Amino acid sequence: MRFKGPLIAALLATSMSVALQAQEPAARASQAGSGPAASMSAAEARAERLVEQLTREEKLRLVHGYFPPFVIGKPGMPTDIIPSAGYVPGVPRLGIPTLRESDASLGVANQVEQRKGDVATALPSSLATAASFDPTIAYAGGAMIGAEARAKTFNVLLAGGVNLTRDPWNGRNFEYLGEDPLLAGRMAGESIRGVQSNGIVSTVKHLALNSQETGRMVLNAKLGEAALRESDLLAFQIAIEIGQPGSVMCAYNQVNGDYACENRHLLTDVLRTDWGYKGFVMSDWGAVHSTVKAANAGLDQQSGQELDKALYFGAPLAKAVADGTVAAAQLDTMVRRILTGVIASGAMDRPLSATVQPIDYAAHADVAQRAAEAGIVLLKNERNMLPLARTAKRIVLIGGHADLGVLSGGGSSQVRSVGGAPIEIPLKSGAAASFARLTYHASSPLQAFRKLAPDVVVEFIDGGDHAAAAAAAKKADIAIVFATQWQTEAQDTETLALPDGQDALIEAVATANPRMAVVLETGGPVLMPWLDRVPAVIEAWYPGQRGGEAIANVLFGAVNPSGRLPITFPAAAEQAPRPAPVGLERLKDPAAATAAANSGGGSGVTVDHFPVDYPEGSNVGYRWYEAKAQKPLFAFGHGLSYAKFVYSKPILSGGKEMTIRFTIKNVGKVAGIDVPQIYTRPADGRWPARLVGYARVDLQPGASTEVTVTAEPRILADWSEAARRFEIASGRYRVEIGRSAGDRENAGEIQLEARAIR
Ligand code: BGC
Repeated sequence: MRFKGPLIAALLATSMSVALQAQEPAARASQAGSGPAASMSAAEARAERLVEQLTREEKLRLVHGYFPPFVIGKPGMPTDIIPSAGYVPGVPRLGIPTLRESDASLGVANQVEQRKGDVATALPSSLATAASFDPTIAYAGGAMIGAEARAKTFNVLLAGGVNLTRDPWNGRNFEYLGEDPLLAGRMAGESIRGVQSNGIVSTVKHLALNSQETGRMVLNAKLGEAALRESDLLAFQIAIEIGQPGSVMCAYNQVNGDYACENRHLLTDVLRTDWGYKGFVMSDWGAVHSTVKAANAGLDQQSGQELDKALYFGAPLAKAVADGTVAAAQLDTMVRRILTGVIASGAMDRPLSATVQPIDYAAHADVAQRAAEAGIVLLKNERNMLPLARTAKRIVLIGGHADLGVLSGGGSSQVRSVGGAPIEIPLKSGAAASFARLTYHASSPLQAFRKLAPDVVVEFIDGGDHAAAAAAAKKADIAIVFATQWQTEAQDTETLALPDGQDALIEAVATANPRMAVVLETGGPVLMPWLDRVPAVIEAWYPGQRGGEAIANVLFGAVNPSGRLPITFPAAAEQAPRPAPVGLERLKDPAAATAAANSGGGSGVTVDHFPVDYPEGSNVGYRWYEAKAQKPLFAFGHGLSYAKFVYSKPILSGGKEMTIRFTIKNVGKVAGIDVPQIYTRPADGRWPARLVGYARVDLQPGASTEVTVTAEPRILADWSEAARRFEIASGRYRVEIGRSAGDRENAGEIQLEARAIR
């Protein structure tokens, strides 16, 4: 979503505040799971009967939606529109609800505080959720967001971002679930299931290959069919199977020459024919470029129509249906799919309240804190630096505004969190300037430290003056540097280096006091030139509304860290398949950049399409590093614990299915959670090791448990273009138990039978 400058001012001046009056208790995350949604097939049959009763005019009304900030208060507009991402009027005579859409990657979004005073619970970034490798964390987060959305009168959530992290600098990595199709797909599916447990629609987005923000509206992502099916599309496929989202959002970019939202191959051949998807495809905001081509390719609904160059699915669609360039039956199909998604999710049968309902924010904050704690990754821990010694008398926290709060990522996912924004800085320029502000959540690590360690003197210094920071570190028993890197939708970061001299700050502090640690609050990987001199590092991502508490709990050992990296951290930018955003130079002209990345074409500035090639194919992330024999800084799957785990000799079985069974024992001194990862590769080495399964086990010291992991068959397979299906080739496969993709123990070899999977 994006705004135009003057419009924001006007919008905020008229400020539609949300009445937070109490009526009836809102659904709570804890009640999630009640009211099973009708199955997609039953919903489809019901939708078909509704379509028969709709007039042509009503059908045409359902296939396009408003962008509220641009229409609120205009003559003839419905009076119940509130500022948010989208609004599609319903058909009351048939009980078809109005679709009230909000962004919701990390919580119910409220960008640039368009709804004055309306706060919501902010989860940590999706990368943190992915780092938990825990489906229950993903589900609980989704259920929490869905509960708040319903209470705030939204019934369609623009959630479920599952684009694979192909580039470490992508500005939206924090909204996605990492680089592995199995992990990302499963976690997205669980989160969608959680959202929809509230009887509302979730999307899965952005189909497909929206892998970079630079030129996202004009780039042509090029990838061969087999590679696409084995990577990005597989993540979507798994997410859809598990989550059954009511809707799929198509992406801005082109995929192999056709815009994603008019890409027949993606929207019909893959999604409908091969995957049997019955819900609806909505466009991203400003991603529609045609009427006839888009409708016939499989786009069902034009979203936020004011952001497109034209109202493609309004009068032009009526005309196209009248003259037969879009068949009347196709319009029926579009409407049937929309209604199928709405019915199957429960949104049809569980109408929204007319007014905002109360929310149990305290319970929801706990959901956010658990997600942050489960997702923090202990990257390095030497010389017993962590957990922090209880004997320390004086600790100094340095930088990162750790006195006030924790950083969040910018863009359409921005949540105005409970407690407000202690820091909020508008951007002066760039593609994100019109709709993103650098924002902190009010969760102060300093306060959390003081609460956890009341007998310790905990001080804060801002880190701007390196000499002063070094002096403060010297005076303290322990120094902790909070280093931040802000990322936002609509922009990629141009460098993986920490900005604003923070590397030098860390060096200065490490020199002054070797008893120190670094806490990273970053959108994704950063370079760490100081790593050898720093004994302990944690990756806290954007840790959400209870991030300060979560960081303190992990550092003090009240929570034993259990997160594992869902993305590779490169040792140098040159290790990545593309060391910098493609097209950056071309888009350096600010007007062109804004047009390309942000306006959907409304600005009138034309930027040529440019290709982005993905030579890594389906060897995304860690697979690329292995194929290229490169050692990253931290491998995918890496993450330390304060406990220690050992694995027994595994028992493998092959044949039709690959299974591995082994015992895992906590031989450490404290309780902890381990995430054993199973990697497999063909003995002939035709592809590098792939993550085929994993487990997450919580063990008391001395305790052990048996773990059985069955490989996801599609990960073991190659996509056959000729047969249009996954095929496992018969042969020998090597199996390994990994503590990360870069640290694997040989588990043996198995023989797999040939098998086809559709
Ligand atoms: C983003 C989507 C978002 C939509 C509506 C777009 O710019 O790409 O993820 O859901 O805006 O705000």
